Amino acid sequence: MSESDSVHVNFSSMEDSASVTDYWNKKTFALVTGASRGIGRTLAEKIAKQIAPESVLLLISRDEKSLGSLKQAIETDRPAVRVYVGVTDLSTCDESALNGLVSSALAGDSAESFAHALCVHNVGSLGDATKRCSDLTQTTSCVDYFRLNVASVVVLNAIFLRHFASGKQQRKTVVNMSSLCAVEPFASLSLYCTGKAARDMFFKVLAKEEPEVRVLNYAPGPVETSMRSQLLDQSWIDEIKSGGLGLTTTVTCDRLMALLARDSYASGAHVDYYDS
Ligand SMILES: NC(=O)c1ccc[n+]([C@@H]2O[C@H](COP(=O)([O-])OP(=O)(O)OC[C@H]3O[C@@H](n4cnc5c(N)ncnc54)[C@H](OP(=O)(O)O)[C@@H]3O)[C@@H](O)[C@H]2O)c1
Repeated sequence: MSESDSVHVNFSSMEDSASVTDYWNKKTFALVTGASRGIGRTLAEKIAKQIAPESVLLLISRDEKSLGSLKQAIETDRPAVRVYVGVTDLSTCDESALNGLVSSALAGDSAESFAHALCVHNVGSLGDATKRCSDLTQTTSCVDYFRLNVASVVVLNAIFLRHFASGKQQRKTVVNMSSLCAVEPFASLSLYCTGKAARDMFFKVLAKEEPEVRVLNYAPGPVETSMRSQLLDQSWIDEIKSGGLGLTTTVTCDRLMALLARDSYASGAHVDYYDS
């Protein structure tokens, strides 16, 4: 099988396999934030396996080494997929840097030449889960939290959509990595819950404003990553501490890939891993 017709499918049911192949096997520009580890890294690997030759992946995080090893692995597996590494601290919300990353990844290709433009806002931080609401007396740490978890997402999203504004015929998809915390309050996670709720609402508004963009707020369930380890270490809430083993990144990313491919969610919806 040549690179041009190689499509790697590893999903649980034939129905998923067929829809996933049809949906993903297109020239795609895919941006994934928080791609250095955890859910974002696994998702980037899975997207890379499915998209058509000549596709472009833009992987963003602060960790040059991890992104470099991911780029190398993807390029070995899919030499016809171009991978750009965007090493940046998203908490700086530097518009010109973000603009530069998307422009550089597009270099040599017109935005209209992509059949699918996909932006996955996966970046996230937990905040300090040792703290109660009444402990949050420091403006700087609150503002820093929302710069990374809300403001940078809003700005990068607008920059992404502007780059693809001229692609009238192309599919456009925006995924926000959400959480159960966007819709349910959890003690010890006040900033995290607030940031996730704000992100969900922002993307619901986007879905209203841009009917041609498919928008999904995906809650991945409890997943075994460094964020979950931090949560179990820090939280003083028994309900959280006794949460048990989480999902693997593979299982939750497979679910997301299949959800996108099935394409039956209402744009702007909050869909949880555990939803039927
Ligand atoms: N794990 C769970 O149980 C769970 C549950 C619900 C929702 N989620 C959500 O899923 C998403 C991914 O979570 P995860 O568990 O995979 O977390 P993780 O393992 O901690 O990964 C977080 C990612 O975000 C990047 N990141 C953090 N701060 C950054 C910054 N200032 N600038 C640029 N990149 C930054 C990290 O990259 P660098 O450190 O290399 O920069 C890393 O790639 C998050 O939005 C999280 O809220 C996770």
